[in-house]
Amino acid sequence: MKIIDVVAERNYSVVVGANGPDEIKSISAEHRKVLLVAPTALIKLFKLKESKNLSIISTPAGENQKSIKVLESVWRKCAAVGIERSDAIIGFGGGATTDLSGFAAATWLRGIDWYAMPTSLAGMVDASIGGKTGLNSQSGKNLIGSFYSPKSVLIDTSYLTKLPARDLSAGMAEVIKCGFISDYKILNLVQDDVIDFDQLIYRAVKVKAKVVAKDFKESKLREILNYGHTLGHAIEKDSKFRLRHGEAVSIGMVFAAELSNELVGLSKEVVDLHRVLSSNFKLPISYPKSRWKSLSALLLKDKKVKQGKVRFIGISKIGKPVWLEDVPSNTLARVYERITK
Ligand SMILES: NC(=O)c1ccc[n+]([C@@H]2O[C@H](COP(=O)([O-])OP(=O)(O)OC[C@H]3O[C@@H](n4cnc5c(N)ncnc54)[C@H](O)[C@@H]3O)[C@@H](O)[C@H]2O)c1
Repeated sequence: MKIIDVVAERNYSVVVGANGPDEIKSISAEHRKVLLVAPTALIKLFKLKESKNLSIISTPAGENQKSIKVLESVWRKCAAVGIERSDAIIGFGGGATTDLSGFAAATWLRGIDWYAMPTSLAGMVDASIGGKTGLNSQSGKNLIGSFYSPKSVLIDTSYLTKLPARDLSAGMAEVIKCGFISDYKILNLVQDDVIDFDQLIYRAVKVKAKVVAKDFKESKLREILNYGHTLGHAIEKDSKFRLRHGEAVSIGMVFAAELSNELVGLSKEVVDLHRVLSSNFKLPISYPKSRWKSLSALLLKDKKVKQGKVRFIGISKIGKPVWLEDVPSNTLARVYERITK
């Protein structure tokens, strides 16, 4: 078991190698009442059961649960069960579930304790770390939310054995990202014949925790976690969400690497390493040439665009992130050609 302490608006620890069922029992013992929020499929898959002071509410799968309607059903359950200030919520599932549960905890009675028990790789290394919680709205993804850190994040990596291969790979894109922006050892670990998930997740969480501790509310430094995400978000939207977030980020990272090669001299070897590592996990590394017009329009609509200027995170070498600002649109178009199929 490994523990990472995260410094945030309230400090918390991330336990990598926790035992899920034991943690649920001990959280239930610590509070008068606990509400566990989990997707219906995972309640069945992991045989989650209610107990004397543990109630369970089931949610729809994936993004569908990040809605006002589902949040309202969680609030109603809190009322029905009688969740009070000293009680707690457990978010059990992928990133969509921890986002919803954290926001429910932030808003019920103006904030009660919550515990994140991420079960997907993306949830373990990304969504449950950093205190961002929230929902989607008609106007866009993740537009409603709050920064609200959990009491702790409990990662039982054995849950990953049930995660579909495509979701595991999508999560791997975020892990690889942590390697490129901060920790080259991750890039070695992902190439091992047998992957040591505990070690890999521990290192990736450390990268995010370190950044978040220095910049909780994303004023600048936290943006480095968006490596590959600027074009990635546009690709995710352009694909009408047929591509998983991590798959779009994988293509976005290849683009960010090529842009870094063009603007700050990132070596060709490191650019190629992006393609090799992503391909090892069957992640996409290219996108149709014909989509550039649509992508460039989407880039300008990104919520991170400031004063009409698209900002990319690049790397000048492994572990050295840089901000690529005011890149001329013809440069972007030319570099995009390098990642097209
Ligand atoms: N808060 C943040 O900082 C942050 C950061 C990154 C992503 N996110 C959010 O996280 C979400 C993406 O996370 P995700 O990829 O985990 O998606 P997800 O929560 O939709 O999970 C993907 C699917 O895998 C299932 N699943 C999860 N764990 C499983 C397991 N062990 N075995 C079998 N099936 C399992 C889920 O029920 C779901 O159907 C998005 O909503 C995104 O906005 C939030």
